[in-house]
Amino acid sequence: MVKDGRFNEHVALITGAAQGIGKAVAFKIAREGGAVALLDILPKVHETAREISGEGIRAMALTVDIGDQTAVGEAIIEISQRFHKIDILVNNAGIVAPASLEDVTENDWDRVVQVSLKGAFFCTRHVLPFMKKENYGKIVNISSRASLGKVKRTVYSACKAGLIGLARTWALELAPYHINVNNVAPGPIATELFEKANPPGSPQTEAILKNVPLGRMGRPEEVADAVAFLASDEASFITGQTLFICGGVTIGGVYF
Ligand SMILES: NC(=O)c1ccc[n+]([C@@H]2O[C@H](COP(=O)([O-])OP(=O)(O)OC[C@H]3O[C@@H](n4cnc5c(N)ncnc54)[C@H](O)[C@@H]3O)[C@@H](O)[C@H]2O)c1
Repeated sequence: MVKDGRFNEHVALITGAAQGIGKAVAFKIAREGGAVALLDILPKVHETAREISGEGIRAMALTVDIGDQTAVGEAIIEISQRFHKIDILVNNAGIVAPASLEDVTENDWDRVVQVSLKGAFFCTRHVLPFMKKENYGKIVNISSRASLGKVKRTVYSACKAGLIGLARTWALELAPYHINVNNVAPGPIATELFEKANPPGSPQTEAILKNVPLGRMGRPEEVADAVAFLASDEASFITGQTLFICGGVTIGGVYF
């Protein structure tokens, strides 16, 4: 038990928590006292939960494809049976299929939308009854700087911009239940997802770095700090907003 932790008495569900940003968010909330339920398609999510439990914090993991609505519903029932409530949801899991408008296949379109956009919809819909019952909730979606436009990200940018629209709509619909809905929009953060799409040292990665005013990649922990803020009562008057965690990339401008 964490003494006087910001998330004591709270239960957080984090999707895509086996690695990268989701794992950093899980540790951040857990180390500040929250019980955490972790969903991921990768079995190694159980290792994350074991590591967190090893620090004396309540954690559970389930291997679930968040693009499968039935599986999501069953997982959320299992979590509620163990922890009795869910009051924080971090819609983090997402996939990318780098391709331009001309190259993207319908199969890629469907696959990315199913996880990155519909997955967040499924998780939120199934968690909502628990938040409404408590008359309390914090939902944080992980959007992306790519929501503002990025070449070869036709489907991905659509999904990430879609999450911004969803958060604004859900913020309005859920305000009467004291449920805040916000987005964190990272980029570029050194994780497996990023490095798969942008190999270290490649001309494309060097070009990305040149465009970051702070001159470096972000760390998953830096995104987790912002997520924790939006998931906490310190952000109680913030809803429907998007916070960019991108080293200043969204400012634009030219650097000499
Ligand atoms: N890394 C970046 O630069 C960056 C920038 C902007 C936004 N993001 C977003 O942040 C989020 C996390 O990205 P990351 O960089 O940590 O990526 P990552 O690939 O390291 O982690 C994503 C996690 O989601 C899980 N996942 C994938 N499909 C799933 C499914 N169907 N069901 C359940 N889990 C699934 C993966 O197994 C993985 O553990 C993503 O939504 C990503 O789009 C990342």
